[in-house]
Amino acid sequence: MEVNASLFTPYPLEDYCRRESEIGVAVSGVLQRGHYILGGEVEAFEKEWAAWCGVEQAIGVANGTDAIELLLLGLGIGPGDAVAVPSHTAVASVSAIRRTGADPVYLDLDPATFTIRPDSLEEALRGPAGGRLKAVLAVHIYGHPVDWTGLSAVCENHGLILLEDGAQSHGATWQGQRVGSLGRGAAFSFYPTKNLGAIGDAGAITTNDPALAARIREIRQYGWRERYISAVEGVNSRLDELQAAILRIKLASLAESVARRQALAARYREGLAGHPLVHLPIVREDRTHAFHLHVIRCPQRDALMAFLLGRGIPVALHYPAAVHQQPGYARFLSHSPGLEETEKAVRGILTLPLHPWLSDAAVDLVIETIAAWSGEA
Ligand SMILES: Cc1ncc(COP(=O)(O)O)c(C=O)c1O
Repeated sequence: MEVNASLFTPYPLEDYCRRESEIGVAVSGVLQRGHYILGGEVEAFEKEWAAWCGVEQAIGVANGTDAIELLLLGLGIGPGDAVAVPSHTAVASVSAIRRTGADPVYLDLDPATFTIRPDSLEEALRGPAGGRLKAVLAVHIYGHPVDWTGLSAVCENHGLILLEDGAQSHGATWQGQRVGSLGRGAAFSFYPTKNLGAIGDAGAITTNDPALAARIREIRQYGWRERYISAVEGVNSRLDELQAAILRIKLASLAESVARRQALAARYREGLAGHPLVHLPIVREDRTHAFHLHVIRCPQRDALMAFLLGRGIPVALHYPAAVHQQPGYARFLSHSPGLEETEKAVRGILTLPLHPWLSDAAVDLVIETIAAWSGEA
């Protein structure tokens, strides 16, 4: 089977090429106005992003990792505290918790959706760090919303703050509500490959709590309440005008691009249905999946991956190891509940190509290539 490499152009570049002239005009406007950090574009983007998520406030910051850190700092979480987080996530979710001085407690997942299970949170509460748990950072991994009903019930019973890591889920919904509006606060990344991606680093926090938003605004700029006077301790995590201007352009068509991701996922579902070795993503009732990543499970994952890569199909692993399996973050395993499902899932996952500019023909080629696979590498 001959693979046409141009079918699989990288997403951020393709996205830029499609919007080149519009982005050029916006960038030149910013350059000529001469105000480059936290100006009118950032303010406008914050309003538009808050409206898109259905919340009162959005605060633009330098990246998604900082967004998590600043959200936790704004809630007063720090040394001595513990925050529950999936081990099956981008390591950034955990590194942000560590930056506050708090410890992560890893939660296990539901193998159908890869999102954390409420019973694993209950197990964590009974474990050695249970008394120190202050918050849960629920990651809508790959774009599938977590079990909000189940997690909220446990959090309410135990006085935990439920937060969202929305970095992979722009546009996903739970009971008709967009993610980013579900918890006390949410963190987003606009890394270039995300559903809404800048051309560089960018992030935001969303919340309906004006006092929390005000604290985060101070922390993001040296703790300043007024210029040059730090009311509290802070950091530098500002969003710049160029990224905000670019994000505003892309936000205008985000709903459309999420719909295209969902259409391509439906095409995969139809084309791969019934394959004995491929388990397709499951979308739970009452939720919509934003399909940042289209991840299948396969008992012979390594063989399938080698087969597809050998035929020019750019598949990938998100991620090759859970966070607790990585040397830098392994030591927090001792106060975490059992992670059997996470360890099983990690061995079987495979990310198929999917982005809004991918053609039907490209998806069909992936489907045909998988259909031609006999189980051998
Ligand atoms: C789930 C998750 N959380 C946090 C982040 C961190 O975002 P950033 O790379 O913008 O710091 C990412 C992105 O890599 C992510 O996928």
